[in-house]
Amino acid sequence: MHYFAECRQFYRQFREQYHTTGSILPSSRALARAMTRPMRRASGPRRILEVGPGTGAVTAAIVRQLRPGDEFDIVEINADFVAILGQRFSQEPDFRKKRAQTRILHAPLQEAPGEHCYDFMISGLPLNNFSLELVDDIYQSYARLLKPTGTLTSFEYVWIRALKLPFARGSERERLVKLTHYLEGKIRQYQIGEEIVMLNVPPAVARHLRFG
Ligand SMILES: C[S@@+](CC[C@H](N)C(=O)[O-])C[C@H]1O[C@@H](n2cnc3c(N)ncnc32)[C@H](O)[C@@H]1O
Repeated sequence: MHYFAECRQFYRQFREQYHTTGSILPSSRALARAMTRPMRRASGPRRILEVGPGTGAVTAAIVRQLRPGDEFDIVEINADFVAILGQRFSQEPDFRKKRAQTRILHAPLQEAPGEHCYDFMISGLPLNNFSLELVDDIYQSYARLLKPTGTLTSFEYVWIRALKLPFARGSERERLVKLTHYLEGKIRQYQIGEEIVMLNVPPAVARHLRFG
């Protein structure tokens, strides 16, 4: 898909579904490369889950890395994004070649089936938009689906919570304070690596976590 067409589609969803879309633009190629670094280093057949692919900016990097024997599942909550991805898998050569290895599930992550079955999970979920209860449900789903030896990679915009906090009031401030405490705890406990990506709008940090 042409980059500007992708941005247009993404921006439309940002306006219509702000809460779940969470950003104005899709991830850059540099961020997509950082998100797929752990899976690139692994040998042998891999089971991969992408969570919240949006228009497929990171999906494009994943399909290029897929090898015979790999299995690739995608879970996306937004029906319009699911339709865009379906089109990419039927029209774009890089995507089409990997269609037989790929399954797209139109559902929230929390409904994705399986237990400890993925070697790599690559998540674009905008956790900073969500309530603490929802973020906790999402972390429980991550831990349920990831193998103990598996790696979860997610991203957030650099300093996003620290930048929002001084402007937040009332219940929004309370939400951000609790979320910061919760997410920083998870990072301290489980993070095995991070990569700051300046070539993204806005700059982002890709975080690699392991629960085992
Ligand atoms: C910030 S966008 C990231 C899109 C893409 N991964 C990228 O980096 O350009 C967040 C994506 O997560 C999806 N999403 C939000 N909540 C979800 C959930 N509970 N389960 C699955 N997908 C979800 C949104 O619809 C959207 O596609």
